[in-house]
Amino acid sequence: MMAALLELRNVTKSYGSLCVTDNLSVALHGGEALGIIGPNGAGKTTMFNLISGNVTPGTGSVHFQGQNISTWPPFKRAISGIGRTYQVPQPFVGMSVYENVLVGAMFGASHNERTGGELAMHVLERTGLATKAGRLAGNLTLLDRKRLELAKALATEPKLLLLDEIGGGLTEHEVHELVALIKSIHVGGTAIIWIEHVVHALMAVVDRLMVINFGAKLVEGEPHVVMANPEVRNIYLGVEAV
Ligand SMILES: Nc1ncnc2c1ncn2[C@@H]1O[C@H](COP(=O)(O)OP(=O)(O)OP(=O)(O)O)[C@@H](O)[C@H]1O
Ligand SMILES: [Mg+2]
Repeated sequence: MMAALLELRNVTKSYGSLCVTDNLSVALHGGEALGIIGPNGAGKTTMFNLISGNVTPGTGSVHFQGQNISTWPPFKRAISGIGRTYQVPQPFVGMSVYENVLVGAMFGASHNERTGGELAMHVLERTGLATKAGRLAGNLTLLDRKRLELAKALATEPKLLLLDEIGGGLTEHEVHELVALIKSIHVGGTAIIWIEHVVHALMAVVDRLMVINFGAKLVEGEPHVVMANPEVRNIYLGVEAV
């Protein structure tokens, strides 16, 4: 069997007496798209922090491309191919849209200014931000801030892209556009883990769905099977009908 691109092995993380990640094991192969759902505070973002290196596991380990990266700092993980967006967009507000993306290309993908600039323009085209390249990132609308999050992550040329609630707060039409873009990234061969409360958007893209509750994996499998699970329906009752 082919080795997994990413593997979390029995990862646990606690803050004081609060267990936020509870013996979590996840495996993802190259090019796969995995959706993550779960209630507020379930530990979804913490799982991303454990993968991107913002948080280190209490026990257990994180593996990427066959290497144990559990103690690697975030920048080293970014350079090795792990790109992420943040639930609360974190652009450099005093820099232009273009400069924000260029930083990703130069520091996340080790480009020089020339090839990084070409990559940045390509990514801005792809994310629908090309005409706003010169604007200050701090002046963007919500949709454009979400696009910029995605653009910055894409500029690091990730093998694994982590998307944290990038569809929240968008109109139906905007979500539709976003789904098309994320689909095209998936079809291009990038592995994706997408945390999203907008379940129908997830269902349009992912191969597999996982539900996290109280830091632990509740169920994982084919998206429609997972959404038909009575326990899952119980958690999501009143949140969204699928
Ligand atoms: N640095 C921290 N110190 C203490 N508690 C934390 C820290 N980071 C997260 N938590 C707690 O861990 C739990 C899980 O947080 P996390 O952000 O991973 O949840 P989430 O599933 O992403 O939620 P949401 O859907 O609201 O984004 C929450 O109870 C949160 O308050
Ligand atoms: Mg979160």
